[in-house]
Amino acid sequence: MTRLPTVCVIGAGCSGIASVKALTDRGFEFDCFEASDRVGGLWVYGNRNGLSAAYRSLHLNTSRKRTEYADFPMPASYPDFPHHSQVAAYFDAYVDRFGLRDRIAFETTVTRAERLDDGRWAVSTDGGTARTYDALIVANGHHWDPRWPEPPFPGHERFAGTQLHSHDYTGDDPGFFRDKSVVVLGMGNSAMDIAVDASFVASDVFLAARRGAWVLPKYLLGRPFDTLQASPRIPFAIRRRASQALLRVLVGDMERYGLPQPDHGLFEAHPTVSDDVLSRIAHGEITPKPNIAELTERTVRFVDGTEVAADVVVYCTGYKVTFPFLDPELIAAPDNDLPLFRRVFHPDVSGIYFVGLLQPLGAIMPLAELQSAWIADHLAGRYALPPAGEMRADIEAERAAMFKRYVASKRHTMEVDYDDYILALRQERRRGERRAALAGHRLPIAA
Ligand SMILES: Cc1cc2nc3c(=O)[nH]c(=O)nc-3n(C[C@H](O)[C@H](O)[C@H](O)COP(=O)(O)OP(=O)(O)OC[C@H]3O[C@@H](n4cnc5c(N)ncnc54)[C@H](O)[C@@H]3O)c2cc1C
Ligand SMILES: NC(=O)c1ccc[n+]([C@@H]2O[C@H](COP(=O)([O-])OP(=O)(O)OC[C@H]3O[C@@H](n4cnc5c(N)ncnc54)[C@H](OP(=O)(O)O)[C@@H]3O)[C@@H](O)[C@H]2O)c1
Repeated sequence: MTRLPTVCVIGAGCSGIASVKALTDRGFEFDCFEASDRVGGLWVYGNRNGLSAAYRSLHLNTSRKRTEYADFPMPASYPDFPHHSQVAAYFDAYVDRFGLRDRIAFETTVTRAERLDDGRWAVSTDGGTARTYDALIVANGHHWDPRWPEPPFPGHERFAGTQLHSHDYTGDDPGFFRDKSVVVLGMGNSAMDIAVDASFVASDVFLAARRGAWVLPKYLLGRPFDTLQASPRIPFAIRRRASQALLRVLVGDMERYGLPQPDHGLFEAHPTVSDDVLSRIAHGEITPKPNIAELTERTVRFVDGTEVAADVVVYCTGYKVTFPFLDPELIAAPDNDLPLFRRVFHPDVSGIYFVGLLQPLGAIMPLAELQSAWIADHLAGRYALPPAGEMRADIEAERAAMFKRYVASKRHTMEVDYDDYILALRQERRRGERRAALAGHRLPIAA
């Protein structure tokens, strides 16, 4: 029998554990290294790895049914939008249910993964181990390396209050915002949650934004909003028009709340979901503002010339995609941009695969599960990639469509539509299975 390639998985968050399961199911020899003492990555509040962006009030903003792995439903007792502690417990239950815990080397950080001349990967860890693998699965997450405003706002260095990035907000100190004047910058989901948290204890909360966003409620027509998505077989433009019309009827224009009217259509930016922010604005507990222009020692001035006293500024300005263990000359994502075939396969570097490195309009977990099974099938010779030229053309077409549709921003470099991605991936897998059969199920990497 042909020996399967050996594999190294970096990370045991919800993406990495899905890969561990797919490799285990197919009988691969592999190591999975996880920096923390447990699985779950970002969803482990106060994670010992120091990388988690979770704060005390965090809940899923993708609904339970759309977030769970296909082969392991979340407990029926869970609410539609579970708390981070429930999500972390679910990932723990997943590894125990499938006997995966012993397959993971905990408290082991990969410090270097170097591609050798023969295409294999030399992986070193902080524990001093060094081993060579035929293939590398990268599942180190993309929401742990904070992106601060670039360039910093004028005056940031003389501001006497506290400036922090949303990544470092934990919500574990109820006194942190108490009686303070707080400026929260951004219109993504971090900004919504943190402004709402602050609004219950702060003296004032200002929500500053350089552009508006459509704020989606968690429920529409009594159902989690993400369960109302129409079939991907209906053209996107029609789906979008229907959803936008529904939102206009049920929520109304953002301007009515004092927020800037979005300069784009619905689903042309990563969705901002909040049940609470519009209500807190309506109650006068959060005041919308345009972008920050500059900071003085004790104030923040906005681009419309207004100025407020400020004790705390929270930059909810997103994240950088980085791989500290890879040679940046070989693979990097400048401005978060790393072109990949269907967000998994590198077009020029073989033997490396990315899991969970995408921004779905929907949840990441079921997509990471599908990607993992796809990679494992590929490594087992059951799926063959299209020819390089076809792969590049596919990447280019996908990127052209994405950049055309989305607002130009470093946060919109790897957006996918959840249902469309699943459908397209299934179709591509069927095509690749036929190619693999024609090639006699040859292994893509010689073990
Ligand atoms: C505040 C917030 C809320 C979110 N809410 C949702 C949501 O509701 N629904 C949704 O689908 N997505 C959400 N996301 C997106 C989030 O990225 C995913 O939910 C999910 O955490 C991605 O899992 P992951 O395994 O890819 O990455 P992570 O959860 O970041 O896990 C990566 C793992 O890799 C390990 N690791 C990293 N580097 C190394 C190394 N060098 N060596 C060894 N181990 C390493 C880390 O310790 C970690 O355990 C949210 C993101 C943020 C910031
Ligand atoms: N489950 C949850 O409830 C939850 C909570 C938090 C986060 N999340 C997820 O975590 C991920 C990251 O979300 P995020 O909100 O932290 O980041 P994000 O989605 O990248 O949003 C960043 C925001 O900051 C703005 N921004 C960036 N740089 C700026 C600058 N220099 N000046 C002014 N504004 C600037 C962006 O505006 P532009 O659009 O103009 O670039 C955008 O509004 C997303 O996938 C999100 O869905 C989920």
